[in-house]
Amino acid sequence: MNLNIAVLSGDGIGPEVTSESKRVLEAIAKRFNHTFQFKNALVGAIAIDKTGAPLPKETLELCLESDAILFGSIGDPKYDNDPSAKIRPEQGLLALRKELGLFANIRPLTAHDKLLEQSPLKETIIKGVNITIYRELTGGIYFGEKQLSPDGLYASDNCSYSKMEIDRIAKLAFEAAQKRDKKLTLVDKANVLETSRLWRKHVAELSKNYPEVTLDYLFVDNAAMQLILNPKQFDVILTENMFGDILSDEASVIAGSIGLLASASVGAKTALFEPIHGSYPQAKDKKIANPIASILSAAMLLEHFNLTEEAQLIKSAVDASIQNEVTTPDLNQKRPYLTDQVGDFICQYILEENTINFEYLEIGQSTII
Ligand code: IPM
Ligand code: MN
Repeated sequence: MNLNIAVLSGDGIGPEVTSESKRVLEAIAKRFNHTFQFKNALVGAIAIDKTGAPLPKETLELCLESDAILFGSIGDPKYDNDPSAKIRPEQGLLALRKELGLFANIRPLTAHDKLLEQSPLKETIIKGVNITIYRELTGGIYFGEKQLSPDGLYASDNCSYSKMEIDRIAKLAFEAAQKRDKKLTLVDKANVLETSRLWRKHVAELSKNYPEVTLDYLFVDNAAMQLILNPKQFDVILTENMFGDILSDEASVIAGSIGLLASASVGAKTALFEPIHGSYPQAKDKKIANPIASILSAAMLLEHFNLTEEAQLIKSAVDASIQNEVTTPDLNQKRPYLTDQVGDFICQYILEENTINFEYLEIGQSTII
């Protein structure tokens, strides 16, 4: 298969982790005789520095003409600490999601047996967890009208949803549940918010088309608690934009590190694949960032094109790196590896017929954190 992939590595640790997922895709292309062409483009704080805009026109054009987007991360402390900044890096990602109509953000989460002790949660609570979060991505409070009064004493963000916006992501979530454990939980705040009541009404209506799927509802405050109290009760979680943002960071605690969580954003135009973690500026250029979330996002990219065997090989390679403790300091406090060493291991696994060269591991062993 020929694929043109736009690489938007962004800010902070984005370039480091994306360079590993790109190498992994190159290894897959080599092993399976595919042609993947990569083109880089600017987004985020680095794009503001170089062009004045967080999503330059050329970047959007490249994304529109590509088959897929591999995205790194976005954000810079110099904007986080400046509430009066008019142009912000995050606007680049939000504009990209909106322009491409990427209304569904899919965030899978599993608890790896080998990593159970990395989580502050008890093993009995998290062993066997397997959840997929369907987060609405182009509506809600993120995209509503914003206001700040000239005197700086009043501000507002509007939250709105339409039936169309609810139905299209709900269908994807029901279809996913149908192929999994057939349970869908809609997370909302229907006891308070009108938008949440609209979600309940239309999701309930749609559920008639999916009789095998059990639909239940949770208020978001309760869901936040249930996720760490009894996460095994969840199969597919469907929720609006901001609740999904918050709950997926929370849920990453179950996996042991947010550095493991991948995502796919799909919708009208070019699909985008990105780790759920942010730009982690404190780690930039230290080679300590975990590349697995980005590498698993690359696996989701391949799945999107039905390259299932290829995607599975990446997942097996990641499993092997975890199993053999070839992992970065977030998962491996005793003998941590560097970002690119984890990438080396995974690429080597992919290229060498899945055999693991332990001699290499000894040489590659890092003593530097
Ligand atoms: C995410 C991020 C983004 C979001 C930020 C960077 C705008 O936190 O993808 O989860 O809030 O959607
Ligand atoms: Mn987030």
